[in-house]
Amino acid sequence: MSENINSMIIGTGRAIPEKTLTNKDLEQIVDTSDEWIRTRTGMQVRHIVADGELTSDLCTRAAKEALDDAGLGVMDIDMIIVGTITGDMGFPSTACFVQQKLGAENAAAMDIHAACSGFIYGLEIADSLIVAKKAKTVLVIGGETLSRITDYTDRNTCVLFGDGAGAAVVVPSDGNRGILGTFTKSDGRLYELLYMPGMGTAHPPSHETVDQRLHYIKMAGREVFKAAVTAMGDAAEHIIERCNLSSDDVDMVISHQANLRIIDATGRRVKVPKSRVYVNVQNYGNTSAASIPIALDEARREGKLRDGQTVVLVAFGAGFTWGSAAVRF
Ligand code: ACO
Repeated sequence: MSENINSMIIGTGRAIPEKTLTNKDLEQIVDTSDEWIRTRTGMQVRHIVADGELTSDLCTRAAKEALDDAGLGVMDIDMIIVGTITGDMGFPSTACFVQQKLGAENAAAMDIHAACSGFIYGLEIADSLIVAKKAKTVLVIGGETLSRITDYTDRNTCVLFGDGAGAAVVVPSDGNRGILGTFTKSDGRLYELLYMPGMGTAHPPSHETVDQRLHYIKMAGREVFKAAVTAMGDAAEHIIERCNLSSDDVDMVISHQANLRIIDATGRRVKVPKSRVYVNVQNYGNTSAASIPIALDEARREGKLRDGQTVVLVAFGAGFTWGSAAVRF
C-alpha cells in the first residue's frame, strides 16, 4: 500500500435544505411518473432551497459542521475552496461569500468550476497546497442550488437535480491516515452534451436568451450516461491501482450520486460488492459537486465509514470533467 500520505480529512459536515420535492410532486409539474423516475434513476426525493436561501448559506452551514467535527475554529482556515456551478453571483466567488459569512479572516478563497467533479478537484488542490507547504488548514466544500438553473418544464432534466452542500477540513497528515492519491481529468470536446449556454459572456443575458431558456441546464442524458459509466469506472480503477490497493482494501466506494445505475456500474467495475457502495441518491437526487461530500459526511456520522477504513471517491460531470481519490480515515 502506498504510504506517501501528505494530508488528511479530519472533519466533515453537510447542509440540506428543508423543503422537499418528491417524485409525486414532479408528477404534478411534468409528464412523468414515480415509477419512471425510480426505475431509471433510483431517486425519490430531492431538497430544494427556499426563497432567498443561497449556495453560500448552505456552504457556510456545512463548513461550520465540518470545523466543529475537526475541533478547529474559523481563524485556523487558510484556504477555502468551493466547488460549485451555481454560485451566488457571476462574481465574486462563492468562496468569498463563505469566508465573509464564517468570519474566516485569515483565509484566501476561490471557486472551482468543475461541475459534479468540483469536490474531487478541490481535494486534489488542497492536498497539493499542503504538500507545497502553502497551506495548513484547507476547507473544501461542494455546494449547489441546482434548482435555480433547472428547467421545470423539461422532464428530461428536472427530475434529476437537488440542492445541498458538503464540506471537509483538510490538514497535514499524521502519517497513518489521509489522502492516498487523487486523479483528475477533463475533455472539453463534448461540452454540448451537458451545459448551460446562457449566463456567461458567450450569450450575455437578454430577453432573447431568457426566451430561449439558455439559463437552464441542457443535457443529452443517454450520451452523458454512457460517458459517465466509462469515465467513472476508469477513474475508480486508476486510483485503486495507483495507490497499490486491491478491491478487498476498499471498505467503501462513494460515487457522485447521479443515477443509481451509474453508481452500481462503478462498483461492479472495481469488483466492490454492493454492500460497500454508498448510495443516498434516493434522498437527494443529483446535487452535483455536493453529492460526494454529503455522502462522505453521512457515511461517517452513520458509523458506516470508520477510522482505519479506506474509501474511494469518484466523480463525473459537465466539461466533461472526472476524477477520483482514495482516502484512509
Ligand atoms: N419521465 C418520463 N419519461 C421520461 C422522462 C421523465 N422524467 N425523461 C425522459 N423520458 C423519456 C424520454 O423522452 C424517452 O422517451 P422516447 O424513447 O419516447 O424518446 C425515454 O424516457 C427514454 O429516455 P432515455 O434518455 O433513453 O432514458 P435513460 O434510461 O437514458 O434515462 C437519464 C435518462 C435518467 C437522464 C439517464 O440518461 C441519466 O442518468 N443520464 C446521466 C445523467 C448524469 O450522469 N449526469 C452527470 C452529470 S450532472 C452535472 O454535471 C450537473
